[in-house]
Amino acid sequence: IPVDPFDLVIFGGTGDLARRKILPGLFRRFLAGQMPPESRVIGAARSEYGDDEYRAEVKAALEEFIAKDSRPAKDVKAFLDRIHYVAIDATGKAGWSDLKKLLRSDVVQAFYFSVAPSLFGPLAERLHEWKCAVKDARIVVEKPFGRDLESARALNRTLGDHFDESQIYRIDHYLGKETVQNLMAVRFGNMLFEPLWNAQYVDHVQITVAETVGVNGRGAYYDKSGAMRDMVQNHLMQLLCLIAMEPPSRFDPDAVRDEKLKVIRALDPVDKNDIVRGQYVSEEDGESYLEQVEDPDSLTESFIAMKLNISNWRWAGVPFYLRTGKKLKARASEIAIVFKDAPHSIFGQELGRHRNILAIRLQPNEGITLGVTIKEPGPGGMRLVDVPLDMTFKDALGPDGDEIPDAYERLIMDVIRGNQTLFMRGDEVEAAWAWTDPLIKGWIERGERPKSYDVGSTGPEDAAVLMHREGRKWRDIK
Ligand code: BG6
Repeated sequence: IPVDPFDLVIFGGTGDLARRKILPGLFRRFLAGQMPPESRVIGAARSEYGDDEYRAEVKAALEEFIAKDSRPAKDVKAFLDRIHYVAIDATGKAGWSDLKKLLRSDVVQAFYFSVAPSLFGPLAERLHEWKCAVKDARIVVEKPFGRDLESARALNRTLGDHFDESQIYRIDHYLGKETVQNLMAVRFGNMLFEPLWNAQYVDHVQITVAETVGVNGRGAYYDKSGAMRDMVQNHLMQLLCLIAMEPPSRFDPDAVRDEKLKVIRALDPVDKNDIVRGQYVSEEDGESYLEQVEDPDSLTESFIAMKLNISNWRWAGVPFYLRTGKKLKARASEIAIVFKDAPHSIFGQELGRHRNILAIRLQPNEGITLGVTIKEPGPGGMRLVDVPLDMTFKDALGPDGDEIPDAYERLIMDVIRGNQTLFMRGDEVEAAWAWTDPLIKGWIERGERPKSYDVGSTGPEDAAVLMHREGRKWRDIK
């Protein structure tokens, strides 16, 4: 279904995110027929380009990030015809009157701030000052949204001086992932799971976001953030909220975000013994974390595992284990709901422990697996074995099914539609920082050094101990 005609301005239009995600994502939506002919994408950045030079850059980005047979030349040309460019100074005066002249007031206006966070404020101020934005224009801001509660509040205030909360779209691209949205569909679209979704039936929950990439190339940013700020405060926190929240009354922006906020506010402070931080090391030259960042003594973590408790009626006593890290064994992200043992085994103790596990794989091989216990086939008596009921989205969609769209495609179209459900509200971001800040402060004050872990492993040994000491274990990263 096509969205309304729009003018989308990408500040930072020549940057990495625009090239890798935003422009290819828009092109795919264009191919899908979602971009009405009158719509335009306007790159805005410092380089003194004209439209043609920018179009050449966009073309190169499509060639790099879209497979050849998915970009017929005539479609690329038609898409490029909608691309424009304005050279602009985010902190000065240059370019703003050109942008103003170019923008139309009778279409949806969206301004994507794909720039360093220090420019969010100046951009909002200038859009206002130059009267570029119409009354219901949208602004899209990328993470990191602040680096602590204080800076996030300041940012919310600055944006709030010029735009209403209903105009601000704070992106967490994890919310745009198909499987993450599916998590809500599975929970609230089926009768089967929700009655069991509580402390009476759930033993614990595991959330893993494992990456094989390191910080090479972005060490300067990463070393000032670490896994806690880069991944937990936003992406993992959002996943946690979707699993733990109460059913919203409707799938609408404030109903969903109100429920997520309650989860963050119900999080207990985390004991220092329930957090394991790690840093990757390698015997190969230049491959260790400390060789890829400026500070050779850096105490920043590239891995973190932790145990959280949610203090509310539904989840009292159910630990949520989170882990994420770089340079691990495999790229594998999943959420696993591990159910309790059946209360009584009619088959006798020696049959061992069998637990149902509902695993939602976010990437790769997006899908859902439900582990069930059955009788081992054959004449060997009543032996139990655990087997997966497996569903991958690829299989479910069939060979002619659409490719799973990238998170950014969905989110950008939601901005144009004016749907904020999959975007973070200001109070949510602040609540997440309010919970995160004391933990970070704690390990900085203690001068804690992250534990080393080998590149290609599952993280530091202590992360396994975090589970073992309570008779549990992490699911394999594969
Ligand atoms: C980003 C982080 O937000 O998410 C990166 O800054 C991380 O460090 C990335 O690699 C992971 O996203 P995805 O979609 O590849 O899982």
